[in-house]
Amino acid sequence: MGELIEAEGLGVNLGGRTVLEGITFSVRAGQLTGIIGPNGAGKTTFLRAILGLVKIREGRLNVLGVPSSRLMEVRQKIGYMPQRQSFEKSFPLSASDVVAVGLLSPATLLRKIANKDRRIRAALQSVGMGEYASRPFKDLSGGEQQRILLARSLVRQPDLLLLDEPNAGLDFPAQQSFVELLHKLKLEKGLTILLVSHDLVSVASAADQLACIDRTMHVHGRPADVLVSPYLKDAYRCQYDFLSTLDKERCGH
Ligand SMILES: Nc1ncnc2c1ncn2[C@@H]1O[C@H](COP(=O)(O)OP(=O)(O)OP(=O)(O)O)[C@@H](O)[C@H]1O
Ligand SMILES: [Mg+2]
Repeated sequence: MGELIEAEGLGVNLGGRTVLEGITFSVRAGQLTGIIGPNGAGKTTFLRAILGLVKIREGRLNVLGVPSSRLMEVRQKIGYMPQRQSFEKSFPLSASDVVAVGLLSPATLLRKIANKDRRIRAALQSVGMGEYASRPFKDLSGGEQQRILLARSLVRQPDLLLLDEPNAGLDFPAQQSFVELLHKLKLEKGLTILLVSHDLVSVASAADQLACIDRTMHVHGRPADVLVSPYLKDAYRCQYDFLSTLDKERCGH
């Protein structure tokens, strides 16, 4: 299969407001795509559209070879790590319990899932957390918890993985190693990955393509080209300006 995701002129309204419009975008099998954009830009909504969780107002969307009206048919082949999942962090669950949740669907009871333990073990091993299966999830560090949640989204062996700011709250080395892990999973398992992140540096280093969304898609292409685009400079101008203010203060100006 060539294109795993194809959107053309995609538009979404929520609560009577236009949240996404004119999104034209495609992802080839085996690519890691970084999605960046300011808060409220519609990044989460875009992932939810790919999962078939929001209604499409206009345009066309194909995912894993099926049109948006039939996305439920391919839902099992898509792994999803939603943004902000703090509720689980207080439950008395072990790491493998958290991964097991990824095997559940409305139609299945956990005790009836074939090869459950082997699948959970394999998912934990694939993120380098094989030794942590019985550890209480709430006692793990933020970075370890992110890996367990990644294992949960991998446990069904999806073809496509959607990650919504999985590295938020991690320090820079942890963000880097998380993105390196994604790169490795992409190469070893042939996974296609969409990664929403505010961390431009580590995403740009691992992504095959970068897309910048702010209601519509502003730029989309190779990271090296996107990073020098005039749009990105404008969108991130406040950061550039802030940094230069700090520099001036430090220099005593
Ligand atoms: N169910 C909803 N009803 C109405 N408006 C919504 C709904 N869900 C999201 N929105 C609005 O749609 C816009 C885009 O939200 P979305 O969560 O997709 O942004 P985002 O790019 O993921 O932002 P962030 O970086 O803060 O996570 C926001 O203005 C948000 O308030
Ligand atoms: Mg979001």
